[in-house]
Amino acid sequence: MIKIAPSILASDFGALREDVLAIEKAGAEWAHIDIMDGHFVPNLSMGPDIVKSIREASGLFFDCHLMVENPKMFVEPFVKAGAELITFHQECVEDMDELIDYIHSFGVKAAVAIKPATSEETIFPVLHKLDMVLVMSVVPGFGGQKFMPEVLDKVRNIRAHKDGKNIDIQMDGGINAETAALAAKAGVNVFVAGSAVFAKPPYTETIASIRKNAEGNYNG
Ligand code: DX5
Ligand code: ZN
Repeated sequence: MIKIAPSILASDFGALREDVLAIEKAGAEWAHIDIMDGHFVPNLSMGPDIVKSIREASGLFFDCHLMVENPKMFVEPFVKAGAELITFHQECVEDMDELIDYIHSFGVKAAVAIKPATSEETIFPVLHKLDMVLVMSVVPGFGGQKFMPEVLDKVRNIRAHKDGKNIDIQMDGGINAETAALAAKAGVNVFVAGSAVFAKPPYTETIASIRKNAEGNYNG
């Protein structure tokens, strides 16, 4: 139920494979992979070839967070590269229903992300067909920002609307052991953590402390 998803945006790109192997060994279930296009967010990160090169080295579940305009264009390349979950942003998609079906047609999971300024109500019409909702707790674009507790109300509202369905709620941005406890209390069960995990190796202790607070406080 509880999943820890270190964001490899905060890893050492010069030793990406080693870092991905290290988080796997340290007990993470997922690798959170941030894809940025320089348009939807003012930063660039990585393309499908890089994802493919770590796929060969890792058994982790690959969670691709597309912070890109025209996400449909990138679904197939990232699935072919090894993504098992594709998250797109509500803010740049007109027909979410169609895009969710398109992602599912590749046999992978589909999720919608919302920025801190976006109302959670915008995703309620498609909630029933989603595998996960990503509630951003920072403005997307960069790692290392401060957690915004005001987004927790959105999680409570999504939890109330998902009606017992098996939909994951993920939080991304400023997650550490302390903020993970707050997020878990609100109903988050998938925890993305970039700078907190990669601050210093070995990563085992940080991942364990996030998990402990997440499990101890989870209210889903
Ligand atoms: C931000 C990214 C996050 C980021 C999280 O745009 O979506 O996944 O890497 O990093 P931290 O945990 O450092 O806030
Ligand atoms: Zn992310």
